[in-house]
Amino acid sequence: MSHLRSVVRGVGSYLPARILTNADLALMVDTSDEWIVQRTGIRARHIAAEGEVTSDLALSAARAALEDAGLEPADIDLIVLATSTPDNTFPATAVSVQSGLGITHGAAFDLQAVCSGFVFALATADNFLKSGSHKRALVIGAETFSRILDWSDRTTCVLFGDGAGALVLEAVPDEGKDDERGVLTTHLRSDGRYKTKLYVDGGVSSTRSVGYLRMEGREVFRHAVGMITDVIEDAFRATGIDAGTIDWFVPHQANRRIIDGSAHKLGIAPEKVVITVDQHGNTSAASIPLALASAHADGRIKQGDVVLLEAMGGGFTWGSALVRW
Ligand code: ACO
Repeated sequence: MSHLRSVVRGVGSYLPARILTNADLALMVDTSDEWIVQRTGIRARHIAAEGEVTSDLALSAARAALEDAGLEPADIDLIVLATSTPDNTFPATAVSVQSGLGITHGAAFDLQAVCSGFVFALATADNFLKSGSHKRALVIGAETFSRILDWSDRTTCVLFGDGAGALVLEAVPDEGKDDERGVLTTHLRSDGRYKTKLYVDGGVSSTRSVGYLRMEGREVFRHAVGMITDVIEDAFRATGIDAGTIDWFVPHQANRRIIDGSAHKLGIAPEKVVITVDQHGNTSAASIPLALASAHADGRIKQGDVVLLEAMGGGFTWGSALVRW
Protein backbone atom coordinates (compact mmCIF):
# COMPACT_ATOMS: atom_id res chain seq x y z
CA MET A 1 0.00 0.00 0.00
CA SER A 2 1.30 3.40 -0.99
CA HIS A 3 1.22 6.11 1.65
CA LEU A 4 2.55 8.86 -0.54
CA ARG A 5 1.07 10.88 -3.37
CA SER A 6 2.63 13.22 -5.94
CA VAL A 7 1.40 16.78 -5.79
CA VAL A 8 1.95 19.48 -8.44
CA ARG A 9 4.04 22.26 -6.92
CA GLY A 10 4.74 24.32 -10.04
CA VAL A 11 4.56 24.51 -13.81
CA GLY A 12 6.58 26.40 -16.40
CA SER A 13 7.19 26.56 -20.11
CA TYR A 14 9.37 27.98 -22.81
CA LEU A 15 8.78 28.75 -26.48
CA PRO A 16 11.52 29.79 -28.92
CA ALA A 17 11.23 33.40 -30.06
CA ARG A 18 10.77 32.74 -33.77
CA ILE A 19 7.16 32.33 -34.90
CA LEU A 20 6.39 30.64 -38.20
CA THR A 21 2.87 31.44 -39.46
CA ASN A 22 0.78 29.58 -42.01
CA ALA A 23 1.41 32.47 -44.40
CA ASP A 24 5.16 31.92 -43.96
CA LEU A 25 4.70 28.22 -44.78
CA ALA A 26 2.68 29.04 -47.88
CA LEU A 27 5.84 30.66 -49.23
CA MET A 28 7.80 27.45 -48.64
CA VAL A 29 5.41 24.66 -49.82
CA ASP A 30 2.16 24.42 -51.79
CA THR A 31 -0.27 25.08 -48.93
CA SER A 32 -2.55 27.79 -47.59
CA ASP A 33 -3.65 29.26 -44.27
CA GLU A 34 -7.18 28.15 -45.09
CA TRP A 35 -6.19 24.47 -45.67
CA ILE A 36 -4.08 24.28 -42.50
CA VAL A 37 -6.66 25.99 -40.26
CA GLN A 38 -9.57 23.97 -41.61
CA ARG A 39 -7.82 20.57 -41.31
CA THR A 40 -5.83 21.15 -38.11
CA GLY A 41 -6.76 24.41 -36.34
CA ILE A 42 -3.07 25.43 -36.43
CA ARG A 43 -2.27 29.09 -37.19
CA ALA A 44 1.34 29.41 -35.98
CA ARG A 45 4.18 27.47 -34.37
CA HIS A 46 7.51 28.40 -32.74
CA ILE A 47 10.83 27.29 -34.25
CA ALA A 48 14.09 26.95 -32.30
CA ALA A 49 16.92 29.25 -33.35
CA GLU A 50 20.06 27.91 -35.02
CA GLY A 51 22.13 26.37 -32.21
CA GLU A 52 19.21 26.32 -29.76
CA VAL A 53 18.83 22.69 -28.70
CA THR A 54 16.18 20.68 -26.86
CA SER A 55 18.00 20.92 -23.51
CA ASP A 56 18.06 24.74 -23.83
CA LEU A 57 14.29 24.78 -24.18
CA ALA A 58 13.91 22.23 -21.37
CA LEU A 59 16.21 24.15 -19.03
CA SER A 60 14.22 27.38 -19.48
CA ALA A 61 10.95 25.54 -18.83
CA ALA A 62 12.46 23.82 -15.76
CA ARG A 63 13.65 27.13 -14.33
CA ALA A 64 10.19 28.65 -14.84
CA ALA A 65 8.56 25.65 -13.11
CA LEU A 66 10.96 25.88 -10.15
CA GLU A 67 10.24 29.59 -9.80
CA ASP A 68 6.50 28.91 -9.90
CA ALA A 69 6.99 26.25 -7.19
CA GLY A 70 9.15 28.53 -5.04
CA LEU A 71 11.84 25.84 -5.00
CA GLU A 72 15.58 25.74 -5.66
CA PRO A 73 17.28 23.30 -8.06
CA ALA A 74 18.85 21.58 -5.04
CA ASP A 75 15.33 20.55 -3.92
CA ILE A 76 14.99 18.31 -7.01
CA ASP A 77 16.24 14.71 -6.87
CA LEU A 78 14.62 13.31 -10.02
CA ILE A 79 14.38 14.58 -13.61
CA VAL A 80 12.32 12.62 -16.12
CA LEU A 81 12.49 14.24 -19.55
CA ALA A 82 10.28 13.10 -22.41
CA THR A 83 11.64 13.79 -25.87
CA SER A 84 11.97 12.21 -29.31
CA THR A 85 14.42 14.95 -30.36
CA PRO A 86 17.33 14.68 -27.91
CA ASP A 87 20.39 16.94 -28.21
CA ASN A 88 22.56 13.90 -28.88
CA THR A 89 22.15 10.15 -29.14
CA PHE A 90 23.64 10.12 -25.65
CA PRO A 91 24.01 11.29 -22.94
CA ALA A 92 20.38 11.86 -22.06
CA THR A 93 19.09 15.39 -22.57
CA ALA A 94 17.92 15.19 -18.93
CA VAL A 95 21.52 15.21 -17.67
CA SER A 96 22.21 18.43 -19.61
CA VAL A 97 19.24 19.97 -17.83
CA GLN A 98 20.50 18.57 -14.52
CA SER A 99 23.92 20.07 -15.14
CA GLY A 100 22.42 23.38 -16.31
CA LEU A 101 20.54 23.58 -13.03
CA GLY A 102 23.69 22.74 -11.06
CA ILE A 103 22.20 19.57 -9.57
CA THR A 104 24.72 16.83 -8.75
CA HIS A 105 22.55 14.47 -6.70
CA GLY A 106 19.60 12.23 -7.57
CA ALA A 107 18.82 10.81 -11.02
CA ALA A 108 18.03 12.24 -14.45
CA PHE A 109 16.98 10.28 -17.50
CA ASP A 110 15.10 10.58 -20.80
CA LEU A 111 11.99 8.73 -21.81
CA GLN A 112 10.69 8.29 -25.35
CA ALA A 113 7.04 7.73 -26.19
CA VAL A 114 6.75 10.35 -28.94
CA CYS A 115 3.64 12.54 -28.51
CA SER A 116 2.54 10.53 -25.46
CA GLY A 117 5.92 11.13 -23.80
CA PHE A 118 4.71 13.60 -21.20
CA VAL A 119 1.94 11.31 -19.91
CA PHE A 120 4.44 8.42 -19.78
CA ALA A 121 6.95 10.65 -17.92
CA LEU A 122 4.31 11.84 -15.48
CA ALA A 123 3.28 8.25 -14.73
CA THR A 124 6.94 7.25 -14.27
CA ALA A 125 7.76 10.13 -11.93
CA ASP A 126 4.52 9.56 -10.01
CA ASN A 127 5.47 5.94 -9.37
CA PHE A 128 9.02 6.88 -8.27
CA LEU A 129 7.63 9.48 -5.84
CA LYS A 130 4.90 7.19 -4.50
CA SER A 131 7.50 4.48 -3.88
CA GLY A 132 9.42 6.86 -1.60
CA SER A 133 12.65 6.51 -3.60
CA HIS A 134 12.66 10.20 -4.59
CA LYS A 135 11.16 13.32 -3.07
CA ARG A 136 10.76 16.00 -5.76
CA ALA A 137 10.72 15.56 -9.52
CA LEU A 138 10.92 17.73 -12.58
CA VAL A 139 8.76 16.16 -15.28
CA ILE A 140 9.66 17.74 -18.59
CA GLY A 141 8.44 17.49 -22.17
CA ALA A 142 10.82 19.18 -24.61
CA GLU A 143 11.07 18.94 -28.39
CA THR A 144 12.71 20.43 -31.46
CA PHE A 145 10.61 18.66 -34.08
CA SER A 146 11.69 21.32 -36.60
CA ARG A 147 14.96 19.34 -36.84
CA ILE A 148 13.26 16.12 -38.03
CA LEU A 149 10.79 17.68 -40.46
CA ASP A 150 11.12 17.34 -44.19
CA TRP A 151 10.46 21.00 -45.00
CA SER A 152 9.53 20.08 -48.57
CA ASP A 153 6.72 17.71 -47.45
CA ARG A 154 3.55 19.77 -47.00
CA THR A 155 1.69 16.84 -45.46
CA THR A 156 3.88 16.94 -42.33
CA CYS A 157 5.86 20.19 -42.10
CA VAL A 158 2.78 22.32 -41.41
CA LEU A 159 1.79 20.30 -38.33
CA PHE A 160 4.65 20.57 -35.85
CA GLY A 161 6.53 23.11 -33.72
CA ASP A 162 9.18 23.41 -31.01
CA GLY A 163 8.80 24.10 -27.29
CA ALA A 164 9.12 22.78 -23.75
CA GLY A 165 7.06 22.54 -20.58
CA ALA A 166 7.82 21.28 -17.08
CA LEU A 167 5.99 20.30 -13.90
CA VAL A 168 7.44 20.07 -10.41
CA LEU A 169 5.95 17.13 -8.52
CA GLU A 170 6.48 16.55 -4.79
CA ALA A 171 5.83 13.43 -2.72
CA VAL A 172 3.54 14.20 0.23
CA PRO A 173 1.90 11.91 2.79
CA ASP A 174 -1.42 10.47 1.63
CA GLU A 175 -3.99 11.36 4.28
CA GLY A 176 -6.64 9.11 2.72
CA LYS A 177 -9.13 11.95 2.15
CA ASP A 178 -11.39 12.11 -0.93
CA ASP A 179 -10.41 15.60 -2.09
CA GLU A 180 -6.62 15.35 -1.74
CA ARG A 181 -4.47 17.03 -4.34
CA GLY A 182 -2.09 15.10 -6.57
CA VAL A 183 -1.87 12.60 -9.40
CA LEU A 184 -5.01 10.49 -9.00
CA THR A 185 -4.46 7.88 -11.71
CA THR A 186 -2.41 7.22 -14.86
CA HIS A 187 -3.05 4.76 -17.70
CA LEU A 188 -0.50 3.94 -20.39
CA ARG A 189 -0.92 1.92 -23.59
CA SER A 190 1.16 0.96 -26.64
CA ASP A 191 0.53 -1.17 -29.71
CA GLY A 192 3.57 -1.71 -31.93
CA ARG A 193 1.48 -3.10 -34.78
CA TYR A 194 1.06 0.56 -35.78
CA LYS A 195 4.74 1.49 -35.62
CA THR A 196 4.93 2.34 -39.34
CA LYS A 197 1.98 4.74 -39.33
CA LEU A 198 4.03 7.54 -37.78
CA TYR A 199 7.80 7.19 -37.59
CA VAL A 200 11.17 8.75 -38.41
CA ASP A 201 12.90 7.14 -41.40
CA GLY A 202 16.34 7.12 -39.82
CA GLY A 203 18.12 6.26 -36.60
CA VAL A 204 21.34 5.31 -34.92
CA SER A 205 21.14 1.58 -35.42
CA SER A 206 19.34 1.50 -38.77
CA THR A 207 20.76 4.30 -40.92
CA ARG A 208 23.35 5.97 -38.66
CA SER A 209 21.50 9.20 -39.38
CA VAL A 210 18.66 11.23 -37.92
CA GLY A 211 15.99 10.88 -40.61
CA TYR A 212 12.71 12.66 -41.26
CA LEU A 213 9.26 12.31 -39.78
CA ARG A 214 6.87 10.29 -41.95
CA MET A 215 3.18 9.84 -41.29
CA GLU A 216 0.05 8.29 -42.71
CA GLY A 217 -2.09 11.17 -41.49
CA ARG A 218 -5.45 9.60 -42.27
CA GLU A 219 -4.51 6.37 -40.48
CA VAL A 220 -3.40 8.29 -37.39
CA PHE A 221 -6.61 10.27 -37.48
CA ARG A 222 -8.71 7.11 -37.88
CA HIS A 223 -7.34 5.57 -34.68
CA ALA A 224 -6.83 8.68 -32.56
CA VAL A 225 -10.28 9.44 -31.15
CA GLY A 226 -11.04 5.81 -30.25
CA MET A 227 -7.72 5.23 -28.51
CA ILE A 228 -7.90 8.53 -26.63
CA THR A 229 -11.47 8.04 -25.43
CA ASP A 230 -10.73 4.41 -24.41
CA VAL A 231 -7.85 5.32 -22.13
CA ILE A 232 -9.76 8.28 -20.65
CA GLU A 233 -12.64 5.94 -19.83
CA ASP A 234 -10.07 3.77 -17.99
CA ALA A 235 -9.14 6.84 -15.89
CA PHE A 236 -12.80 7.63 -15.20
CA ARG A 237 -13.50 4.01 -14.18
CA ALA A 238 -10.48 3.95 -11.84
CA THR A 239 -11.49 7.12 -9.98
CA GLY A 240 -15.26 7.52 -10.28
CA ILE A 241 -14.59 10.94 -11.80
CA ASP A 242 -16.39 11.65 -15.08
CA ALA A 243 -16.74 14.17 -17.90
CA GLY A 244 -19.18 16.21 -15.81
CA THR A 245 -16.95 16.44 -12.73
CA ILE A 246 -13.61 17.30 -14.32
CA ASP A 247 -12.73 21.01 -14.32
CA TRP A 248 -10.31 21.02 -17.26
CA PHE A 249 -9.45 18.80 -20.19
CA VAL A 250 -5.84 19.38 -21.30
CA PRO A 251 -5.29 17.09 -24.30
CA HIS A 252 -2.19 16.57 -26.39
CA GLN A 253 -2.34 19.36 -28.95
CA ALA A 254 -1.99 17.57 -32.31
CA ASN A 255 -5.02 18.62 -34.21
CA ARG A 256 -8.14 20.61 -33.31
CA ARG A 257 -10.40 18.08 -35.01
CA ILE A 258 -9.02 15.21 -32.91
CA ILE A 259 -9.41 17.28 -29.72
CA ASP A 260 -12.98 18.35 -30.53
CA GLY A 261 -13.91 14.81 -31.62
CA SER A 262 -12.59 13.30 -28.38
CA ALA A 263 -14.27 15.91 -26.16
CA HIS A 264 -17.55 15.47 -28.01
CA LYS A 265 -17.46 11.65 -27.74
CA LEU A 266 -16.76 11.85 -24.00
CA GLY A 267 -19.37 14.57 -23.37
CA ILE A 268 -16.81 17.11 -22.13
CA ALA A 269 -18.15 20.68 -22.38
CA PRO A 270 -16.20 22.79 -24.92
CA GLU A 271 -15.49 25.51 -22.32
CA LYS A 272 -13.49 22.99 -20.24
CA VAL A 273 -11.08 22.22 -23.09
CA VAL A 274 -7.68 23.96 -23.08
CA ILE A 275 -6.51 24.69 -26.64
CA THR A 276 -3.03 25.88 -27.62
CA VAL A 277 -2.59 23.99 -30.89
CA ASP A 278 -3.63 27.12 -32.80
CA GLN A 279 -0.53 28.99 -31.56
CA HIS A 280 1.97 26.14 -30.89
CA GLY A 281 1.19 23.49 -33.52
CA ASN A 282 1.97 19.95 -32.40
CA THR A 283 4.97 20.09 -30.04
CA SER A 284 4.80 16.35 -29.32
CA ALA A 285 5.85 15.59 -25.71
CA ALA A 286 5.92 19.31 -24.88
CA SER A 287 2.33 20.04 -25.83
CA ILE A 288 0.57 19.05 -22.58
CA PRO A 289 2.89 20.92 -20.17
CA LEU A 290 2.85 23.94 -22.52
CA ALA A 291 -0.96 23.91 -22.39
CA LEU A 292 -0.96 23.39 -18.60
CA ALA A 293 1.44 26.32 -18.15
CA SER A 294 -0.72 28.52 -20.33
CA ALA A 295 -3.98 27.70 -18.47
CA HIS A 296 -2.23 28.06 -15.08
CA ALA A 297 -0.65 31.41 -16.00
CA ASP A 298 -3.95 32.94 -17.13
CA GLY A 299 -5.71 31.78 -13.95
CA ARG A 300 -7.96 29.10 -15.48
CA ILE A 301 -6.45 26.09 -13.66
CA LYS A 302 -6.59 26.69 -9.91
CA GLN A 303 -5.53 24.66 -6.89
CA GLY A 304 -8.02 21.86 -6.26
CA ASP A 305 -9.24 21.68 -9.88
CA VAL A 306 -9.50 18.22 -11.43
CA VAL A 307 -7.48 18.18 -14.66
CA LEU A 308 -7.74 15.42 -17.27
CA LEU A 309 -4.70 14.83 -19.49
CA GLU A 310 -4.42 12.58 -22.54
CA ALA A 311 -2.06 11.97 -25.41
CA MET A 312 -1.65 9.69 -28.40
CA GLY A 313 1.28 9.39 -30.77
CA GLY A 314 3.85 7.33 -32.65
CA GLY A 315 4.12 3.65 -31.76
CA PHE A 316 1.18 3.91 -31.35
CA THR A 317 1.42 4.98 -27.75
CA TRP A 318 -1.40 6.56 -25.80
CA GLY A 319 -2.24 7.42 -22.22
CA SER A 320 -4.31 9.41 -19.76
CA ALA A 321 -3.89 10.96 -16.33
CA LEU A 322 -6.17 12.63 -13.80
CA VAL A 323 -4.60 15.21 -11.51
CA ARG A 324 -6.19 17.23 -8.71
CA TRP A 325 -4.16 20.43 -9.14
N1 ACO B 1 -1.69 21.98 -47.76
C1 ACO B 1 -2.52 21.77 -48.79
N2 ACO B 1 -2.91 20.55 -49.18
C2 ACO B 1 -2.43 19.50 -48.50
C3 ACO B 1 -1.55 19.64 -47.41
C4 ACO B 1 -1.19 20.95 -47.06
N3 ACO B 1 -0.35 21.20 -46.03
N4 ACO B 1 -1.25 18.43 -46.94
C5 ACO B 1 -1.90 17.55 -47.69
N5 ACO B 1 -2.61 18.19 -48.64
C6 ACO B 1 -3.46 17.62 -49.66
C7 ACO B 1 -3.12 16.18 -49.97
O1 ACO B 1 -2.05 16.11 -50.88
C8 ACO B 1 -4.41 15.69 -50.57
O2 ACO B 1 -4.47 16.11 -51.90
P1 ACO B 1 -5.10 15.15 -53.02
O3 ACO B 1 -6.51 14.92 -52.60
O4 ACO B 1 -4.93 15.96 -54.25
O5 ACO B 1 -4.26 13.90 -52.97
C9 ACO B 1 -5.48 16.46 -49.77
O6 ACO B 1 -4.80 17.57 -49.19
C10 ACO B 1 -6.10 15.62 -48.67
O7 ACO B 1 -5.06 14.97 -47.95
P2 ACO B 1 -5.36 14.07 -46.70
O8 ACO B 1 -4.09 13.56 -46.13
O9 ACO B 1 -6.43 13.08 -47.04
O10 ACO B 1 -5.99 15.18 -45.75
P3 ACO B 1 -6.70 14.99 -44.37
O11 ACO B 1 -8.05 15.59 -44.41
O12 ACO B 1 -6.59 13.59 -43.87
O13 ACO B 1 -5.82 15.93 -43.46
C11 ACO B 1 -4.13 15.68 -41.77
C12 ACO B 1 -4.45 15.65 -43.27
C13 ACO B 1 -4.36 17.09 -41.27
C14 ACO B 1 -2.68 15.28 -41.56
C15 ACO B 1 -5.08 14.69 -41.07
O14 ACO B 1 -5.02 13.44 -41.66
C16 ACO B 1 -4.77 14.56 -39.64
O15 ACO B 1 -5.00 15.46 -38.86
N6 ACO B 1 -4.27 13.38 -39.20
C17 ACO B 1 -3.88 13.20 -37.86
C18 ACO B 1 -2.43 13.26 -37.86
C19 ACO B 1 -1.88 14.08 -36.75
O16 ACO B 1 -2.48 14.92 -36.15
N7 ACO B 1 -0.65 13.75 -36.52
C20 ACO B 1 0.09 14.44 -35.54
C21 ACO B 1 1.05 13.50 -34.97
S1 ACO B 1 0.22 12.21 -34.23
C22 ACO B 1 -0.31 12.79 -32.86
O17 ACO B 1 0.28 13.67 -32.32
C23 ACO B 1 -1.59 12.22 -32.39
